[in-house]
Amino acid sequence: MKRVFLETYGCQMNVADSELMAGVLERAGFTLTGRPEDADAIVLNTCAIREHAEQRVLGRLGDFARLKAARPGLVVGVAGCMAQHLRAKLLDQSRVLDLVVGPDGYRHLPELLRRAADEPVAHVRLDRDETYGDLEPRRGDGVRAWVTIQRGCDKFCTYCVVPYTRGRERSLPLADLVRQVREAVARGFREVVFLGQTVNSYHDGTHDFADLLRAANALEGLLRIRYTSPHPADVGERLIAAMAECPRVCPQVHLPLQSASDRVLEAMRRTYTLDHYRGVVKRLRDAIPGLGLSTDIIVGFPGETEEDFERTCDYMAEVRYDSAFLFKYSARPDTRAHRLPETVSEEEKGRRLTRLIDQQQAISAEINAEWIGREVEVLVEGPARRTPEQLTGKSPQFKTVVFPGDGTRPGTLRRVRVVGATSQTLLGAAVVAAAPRLLPIG
Ligand code: SAH
Ligand code: SF4
Ligand code: F3S
Repeated sequence: MKRVFLETYGCQMNVADSELMAGVLERAGFTLTGRPEDADAIVLNTCAIREHAEQRVLGRLGDFARLKAARPGLVVGVAGCMAQHLRAKLLDQSRVLDLVVGPDGYRHLPELLRRAADEPVAHVRLDRDETYGDLEPRRGDGVRAWVTIQRGCDKFCTYCVVPYTRGRERSLPLADLVRQVREAVARGFREVVFLGQTVNSYHDGTHDFADLLRAANALEGLLRIRYTSPHPADVGERLIAAMAECPRVCPQVHLPLQSASDRVLEAMRRTYTLDHYRGVVKRLRDAIPGLGLSTDIIVGFPGETEEDFERTCDYMAEVRYDSAFLFKYSARPDTRAHRLPETVSEEEKGRRLTRLIDQQQAISAEINAEWIGREVEVLVEGPARRTPEQLTGKSPQFKTVVFPGDGTRPGTLRRVRVVGATSQTLLGAAVVAAAPRLLPIG
């Protein structure tokens, strides 16, 4: 067995985990292929956050069942949160599967794949000591390196499956992380994104998250530092000061709110009130000029009344996020909220979601329009997806900027004047630097 096709679902932590798996596999002599038809083994790195995420994967397994019918030796595996969530049940449920491996089993992936060629294998033990701190990931192309600084989650929000699929919170040692970032920079990455489910509760026993930001800020060659997602209850003065004082830490925060009703926040066990959240936003905005702010919201949590929902609409109109990820509540087995009777119909969830999407889109469009006429600094990523003759990259606030191609190389900072905007994108024109003096040739 030689070639592995790896497909990733879910959040950025899963993207980072796939890079980790790719590294483990390559060192063990496997090669990665981009085409399932060419593979000896297929591994889906999956997500369990909402029911829909799991359904997509089950659908995809149907595709691979057909491939396997033609090539019986093909090994099909499911990794990640859905594997951990459903465990060995998945092997029974899906006849096509040979391997189920949870988020703490990736170190053993080569051996598990070899064993799965002979008989179905499940490795779903959570390991509170596993951080993969010693393993080099095989990072994808691009200017942005994802660095997992913390695994698991201890918050147990009542709707959320993550503490069950990823186990207890653990942080990687700061020295390992600094080494990882230094190596990523040496390989050409210009931006680092620190990842964790409650990234700001990072603590390696000696250093906290503010220490990590300051250590990364001191690294030569690194242009930008971001992180996701902080928990609103753990945003302290040390973090805000580090953001304000470190020029490479971008003025951008993704700060999940979930709901603006204290009653719902309490039922979700988010451990903060709207007033606390409001105070965090104020302190961040006071300390960091031009802060880009985004969030996650869930509509239709059990017991969410029309009045609770109105609170969320009102607060979102007040705070004016740059953007928001908006979700319909999805009951997850194992979680505490799963036992609550659902009081909001699918139809009503849909109505609330659409209402918020429309409201947020209008706000995003207004905020982006305010950028027209101003200059932004873009870290160029490469050709724009839909219009490859143009270049794209992000502003410090993490807004996508598209501007006419002018040969600027990926990984370079480019000043761009914003000349147009949609709710999603800033459209720019590169600012021409003062003309270089012509020197005689030869
Ligand atoms: N650790 C991060 C979020 C992880 S999951 C945090 O605490 O903010 C990403 C988002 O998915 C969450 O912020 C939440 O908005 C959403 N989500 C999680 N569980 C959900 C569920 N059961 N139904 C709907 N959305 C959910
Ligand atoms: Fe889930 Fe809450 Fe942990 Fe985020 S903080 S991963 S929402 S339990
Ligand atoms: Fe991420 Fe989905 Fe797991 S959001 S942590 S891959 S459940």
